[in-house]
Amino acid sequence: MNGVIIFGTCTGTTEHVAGLLAEALLPEIEMQCLDVYKIKPASLNDWDFVIAGIPTWDVGELEYGWSDIYDGLDDVDLETTVAMFGLGDQGSYPDTYQDAMGILYEKLIERGATGGIGFTSTDGHDFDESKAVIDGRFCGLALDEVMQQDLTEERVVAWAAELKRAIQSEGMDESSVENASERSPA
Ligand SMILES: Cc1cc2nc3c(=O)[nH]c(=O)nc-3n(C[C@H](O)[C@H](O)[C@H](O)COP(=O)(O)O)c2cc1C
Repeated sequence: MNGVIIFGTCTGTTEHVAGLLAEALLPEIEMQCLDVYKIKPASLNDWDFVIAGIPTWDVGELEYGWSDIYDGLDDVDLETTVAMFGLGDQGSYPDTYQDAMGILYEKLIERGATGGIGFTSTDGHDFDESKAVIDGRFCGLALDEVMQQDLTEERVVAWAAELKRAIQSEGMDESSVENASERSPA
């Protein structure tokens, strides 16, 4: 499988978490961490599997690097599989908690990517509204390095284990993903 972790960040937190995740995926899965500013929208198809890490900024908005990708995606048909992780702050932004993860996820799926991998429970998070909640679950791994820093590592390790299982059960560790857009979220 040809995979990558792509992160956007304003103050470094999401890059830090991307590194933790890359470590937690080893030794079974080796993935490089790449700053979103190094890619173009169509480059997402260079990988079979993209793990996208995005913090929410400016009250419910996308981090700026991912925002540029988002704006350029309308001309791109995605063929890759995606999983998401998001950074947010449920204490100060309970009405827009993790919104960017949800907004970006919806766009990637709309453009043809396969999703439904790595959804997580909202249990343990205290917030009012989030665009990252789909059918009662976060559409990826939600992390809060402001209010719940002590939980990040265990959440990342547990999520990495789930991703490994998903990758194996989808057969992505052996072959590239075909007909990506035909599968719907779980
Ligand atoms: C001005 C500002 C606006 C923010 N807006 C939100 C928000 O709407 N929703 C949310 O969940 N977190 C919000 N956050 C929290 C950030 O997402 C959080 O601090 C994150 O860890 C930053 O990641 P980064 O260091 O990778 O940029 C905001 C933070 C700041 C300083």
